[in-house]
Amino acid sequence: MTTRRAQFSTRLGVIATTVGSAVGLGNVWRFPYEAGTHGGGAFMLCYIFFVLIIGVPVICAEFIMGREYRSGILGCYRGASGGRRWDIFGYAGVIGGIMILSFYSVVAGWTMEYCVEAATGQLTATAAGDLHDSFTGFITGGRSVLWTVIFLAVNAAVALGGVKKGIERISNLLMPVLVVVILACCINSLTLQGAREGLTFLFKPDFDQLTPSVILSAMGQAFFSLSIGLGCMMTYASYFRDDTFIIVSAVTIGALDTVIAILAGIIIFPAVFTFGMSPTQGPTLVFEVLPAIFGQLAGGGFWATLFFVLLFIGSLTSTISMSEIFISFIGDHTGLNRRRSTLLTTGIAMVLGVLCALSFGPLARLNLFNIFDYVSSNILLPVGGMAVSLFVGWKLDPAVFQRQMRSGRHIPAVVTRAILFCLRFVAPIGIAIILIAGLI
Ligand code: PFF
Repeated sequence: MTTRRAQFSTRLGVIATTVGSAVGLGNVWRFPYEAGTHGGGAFMLCYIFFVLIIGVPVICAEFIMGREYRSGILGCYRGASGGRRWDIFGYAGVIGGIMILSFYSVVAGWTMEYCVEAATGQLTATAAGDLHDSFTGFITGGRSVLWTVIFLAVNAAVALGGVKKGIERISNLLMPVLVVVILACCINSLTLQGAREGLTFLFKPDFDQLTPSVILSAMGQAFFSLSIGLGCMMTYASYFRDDTFIIVSAVTIGALDTVIAILAGIIIFPAVFTFGMSPTQGPTLVFEVLPAIFGQLAGGGFWATLFFVLLFIGSLTSTISMSEIFISFIGDHTGLNRRRSTLLTTGIAMVLGVLCALSFGPLARLNLFNIFDYVSSNILLPVGGMAVSLFVGWKLDPAVFQRQMRSGRHIPAVVTRAILFCLRFVAPIGIAIILIAGLI
């Protein structure tokens, strides 16, 4: 199990793939609509707080486990505990991973539709007032189901390319371009008439809005956006080289991911107020606001196409990392080869993904899309984060913790102590309180 495991070849590759996993629809699609429905500024403040005190330590914990035991989540828990008592968290991670892959692929399919509509000029030709109806028409119809299946097929094709050739290459190439395009869109949004109102909504916290369920959602969003709690970062760390600097990588991921979410907010909210839309409309928000922005830009068709192509690629680098949880699980525990594990993962995700896509049409009453989103982000991810914090904080051999944190270098003792303190106390206690209060 531990021999001949593939490895990322360069330092940049490690950062690009882990950041590629973290940055995706979670930042550009989920963050703005979650912030929009939960009061804006206060939500964002909580979110940043959770990234700092829980997110970064939990990324370190996942990295330590993954690199030490060089396996997927279940294998790591088994390797580290020497038994099967922690298996439940391994299975929870694998199930959560496939749930997220299923509903996330639906939204990734929407980005593909928008790539085509933007490139053919349809998107920017739609008047701002008609965007809601045309988008609703699309997601309730059969085309969104088709795109979900196509997206998952593309995802499988990249995953079949293997760790080095497939995942690393595509991430290295395209993540920096995405950041540049996002910055350009931000500058444009700041010139809109509703810029002041939008920025006030995003940056001025109204603490009356802070209910336990808002705090739970902010924590769920932090976990979702950082790809932690399911063993995704653990699985990626199993491909790290021995000298990958864990703490620096964790801080870089936390910082870049948060900056990109905030930039997405700066793109969306000024436009929401400029075009008289409501920030609270939920998962469809970004897909109705962005076309309105591009529609009033010179060369809007070009910018829209570029934006949605990059967002599609951002989604792909994230779904590849989610699929890796399941693929690695099947590969490690059933002996199926990578090709078969990938095909099996894709098949399951396609069935569930189609059911999620139908949640906007015929299966609206069941709404598997919302159920999967809520259960994975607000329950499975936090519980998984709590488990890995407790495990690394209390059960893992302290010598392993120190060696992995140092990664062959010298780091001040205060840093390792602070991370250990967060893993032992802050993260598990904080997550438990928020989960209980938020769910009740
Ligand atoms: N972090 C990804 C995003 O923000 O789009 C989503 C994600 C990836 C969640 C991988 C969970 C995961 F395991």
